[in-house]
Amino acid sequence: MRITVVGSGYVGLVTGACLSDLGFKVVCLDKDESKIRVLQDGEVPIYEPGLKEMLSRNRADGRIRFTSNYTEAIEHGDIIVIAVGTPASEDGSADLGHVLSVASSIGRHLKSFKLVVNKSTVPVGTADKVRAAISHELVQRGMLPDLFDVVSNPEFLKEGAAIDDFMRPDRIVVGIDEGLHHARSKRMMGDLYASFNRHHARTVWMDVRSAELTKYAANAMLATRISFMNEIANLADVLGADVDHIRRGIGADNRIGHSFLYAGCGYGGSCFPKDTQALVSTARAHGQQMAVVSATEQVNERQKMILIDRLMQCMGADLSGRKIAVWGLAFKPNTDDMREAPSRVVIGQLLMRGATVCAYDPVAAQEAFHALHFDFAGNTKPLERLTMVANEMQALEGADALLIMTEWKHFHNPDFSAMKALMRTALILDGRNLYNPEALCDLGIAYQGVGRRNHLAQTVSFERPVHDLMEDLSVLD
Ligand SMILES: NC(=O)c1ccc[n+]([C@@H]2O[C@H](COP(=O)([O-])OP(=O)(O)OC[C@H]3O[C@@H](n4cnc5c(N)ncnc54)[C@H](O)[C@@H]3O)[C@@H](O)[C@H]2O)c1
Repeated sequence: MRITVVGSGYVGLVTGACLSDLGFKVVCLDKDESKIRVLQDGEVPIYEPGLKEMLSRNRADGRIRFTSNYTEAIEHGDIIVIAVGTPASEDGSADLGHVLSVASSIGRHLKSFKLVVNKSTVPVGTADKVRAAISHELVQRGMLPDLFDVVSNPEFLKEGAAIDDFMRPDRIVVGIDEGLHHARSKRMMGDLYASFNRHHARTVWMDVRSAELTKYAANAMLATRISFMNEIANLADVLGADVDHIRRGIGADNRIGHSFLYAGCGYGGSCFPKDTQALVSTARAHGQQMAVVSATEQVNERQKMILIDRLMQCMGADLSGRKIAVWGLAFKPNTDDMREAPSRVVIGQLLMRGATVCAYDPVAAQEAFHALHFDFAGNTKPLERLTMVANEMQALEGADALLIMTEWKHFHNPDFSAMKALMRTALILDGRNLYNPEALCDLGIAYQGVGRRNHLAQTVSFERPVHDLMEDLSVLD
């Protein structure tokens, strides 16, 4: 069986790489010719751990190639995987423009039976639209309108651990509808994922609509857990409790589990924000409300401001003359993805309030630069006060505060004494709860996490020197 993957972004490239690693002959197509040229030259246009090595290995062995040519790509695959973007439209609904454009292209090039597998995250009913678009093109060409089947196979990989997630899935959701091609489609999907079902069956078979909705339900559930914990953290801050203890206390309950219970400065990325919005929008279009998911979004929007609020409590709303260091730009570690990253909101606020910002991220600086230029379109003047530096310590020179936005591993155990010596004021506002508040207190660093029982930065006047700040902290403790 040969595979074509349409869309060579985070999902498409990982899917193509992993399937080629499992021995399939894969063609990856993208309409972005510059991206395809980069891939043909042996480079990878995105950062995803292990992806470059896997692609080059399989490329060298002739199992994967890249093209922008639809004729060649559709001819190649018995299975055509759709993995193009489904960004949020103005009204929050999923924009199906890319998916339906791919469907039409498939219809224009299809000559024999193909199984179309939709991996993009799409609202319920999209498979019907994809079918209609392909059939329309086939009829135009005087061909049988049912020379294909469409199945739903939502993707659950996480950026930063995408290869591992793809190669060791918790489950594989496959939605197939009854009809002419049902048995054949089921057999092909079974063959596609046979490697993952050897030890025990991981595929969860269902109908297409249920599969489409499963993806949204999964992301909405995970986003809700994060927003829930952020609300608990904010309450813990006020009540003098520590959310980290609470996280462990509830995570140990098997019914709850430990994942996605970390409080912080909000979630971002290409999935949770747009998928929760799309779910709310789908419900609205059908006269339903998604009260929990709507609240999840609202809490997250508010949470992205939490470090700014705290900084303003210390320094006032006018940050001109302040130098703020930012560690981490990507929406999470091990990726360069800046889509909906909370750092964009935070840096935007810092710059608009007059601060000078010195930021460091090990892989996302370039993406961040583009993303912030996009955000500031029309008035890029404030961006003149933003510098991206080559290492985390450089960002601290003369800084009035450090804001931690992404929990990169090498931020876990920094040299705090050296940090303190570099900063004008040793104040750390930690949006990812990386550090031990007591340990930093002992070192004379004013520190505040999210929901960590240390009100220091909320209550002190920033003009006072650090040893005074530490006295406030000891009073609070
Ligand atoms: N990124 C994730 O972590 C993740 C995880 C699970 C599911 N998803 C879903 O998978 C889908 C793809 O996400 P992504 O992050 O890989 O997107 P992406 O933006 O990284 O990649 C999409 C690619 O599709 C290409 N494309 C768009 N229209 C095309 C067309 N007509 N023909 C050929 N190529 C076309 C774009 O040029 C781009 O390279 C989305 O629906 C997303 O919600 C993403």
